[in-house]
Amino acid sequence: MSKKLLVVFGATGNQGGTTANIVLDDPELSNQYSVRAITRSASNPKAQELKSKGAEIVEADLDNTSSLAGALRGAHTVFALTNTYYGQDTRTIETRQAKALCDEAVKQGAQYLIWSSMSHPKKISNGKLTHVDHFDVKAEIEEYIRTLPIKSAFYAPGSFMQNFTTHMVPRPSPANDGTYVLANLCKGDTKLPWIDITDTGKWIAAILADPDKYEGKMLSAAYGLISFDECAAIISKHTGKTVTFQQLPDEVFKGFLPENFRDQVMDMHLLFRDYGYFGANMESDVEWTRKQAKGKLTSLEEFFKKTDYKIE
Ligand SMILES: NC(=O)c1ccc[n+]([C@@H]2O[C@H](COP(=O)([O-])OP(=O)(O)OC[C@H]3O[C@@H](n4cnc5c(N)ncnc54)[C@H](OP(=O)(O)O)[C@@H]3O)[C@@H](O)[C@H]2O)c1
Repeated sequence: MSKKLLVVFGATGNQGGTTANIVLDDPELSNQYSVRAITRSASNPKAQELKSKGAEIVEADLDNTSSLAGALRGAHTVFALTNTYYGQDTRTIETRQAKALCDEAVKQGAQYLIWSSMSHPKKISNGKLTHVDHFDVKAEIEEYIRTLPIKSAFYAPGSFMQNFTTHMVPRPSPANDGTYVLANLCKGDTKLPWIDITDTGKWIAAILADPDKYEGKMLSAAYGLISFDECAAIISKHTGKTVTFQQLPDEVFKGFLPENFRDQVMDMHLLFRDYGYFGANMESDVEWTRKQAKGKLTSLEEFFKKTDYKIE
């Protein structure tokens, strides 16, 4: 039996990278699927690594529509995502890129599309939160995909544990007492669905192993719901430094945000605090999705351990 061709966009990144790797490494999935990894530059070391494991590497750029036919020719299943363009009109850019990709997938006769989606803050908040473009746009692309003549499934990642190494890194306390503070406008008991984003492949593998089961379904993917107070305690235990969570008044928090995407990030945190990252059914959606993963998921404690997490 000939293998089905899986085309993976973002193959040199977090989500696409773990998807391509899990299929190449899994005896059953690699028997069923061959992998074509898409990158803008075939010389990217991550692409070369995938090539050495048996993936076909094809160069394509979502901003260059004419490159997409070659990327999608012969595709059976496609894993696709767009990136956020902070400080730019991400809604317009992501919509243009995703529509070009999805339309070409249909044109090339692909059977199944797995889209990296998101929750829909505008809908969840009944129109109150209007600036979380980088979430809304992915949910709206999902709506578009559902109208296309192609089977589809949707994967929405929770908040990346990796964020603790970037914009959520605890800062030295202003008290200058050797302690650290994790601060934003959420409450200490506000829970986010946390995911080691390199676990993505474990859910995509489940879809690839049983596509009919997941057709039309949304996976709200996370290890679990963990409050900011709990995150601070876990970081303290791991690093040996005292880290506490501090809720900031809305306007103070807003003042710390970069001007060119202030409203976007502000509304995103209001989503977290007032509505829940995945909306009203977050708890049951995350719990169901957790059970679908193929393989053991990474806890927050394990993430800090495996990345040798440190705060300075
Ligand atoms: N941070 C969070 O907590 C969070 C939570 C949920 C969702 N998200 C979303 O996750 C997405 C990022 O996912 P990720 O972490 O997997 O991405 P990533 O690791 O940054 O990788 C991005 C990938 O996209 C490819 N790429 C970039 N521009 C491209 C273009 N024009 N055409 C074709 N490929 C292109 C890159 O490949 P080459 O460079 O090799 O071409 C790379 O493989 C964002 O949209 C973000 O909004 C983030």
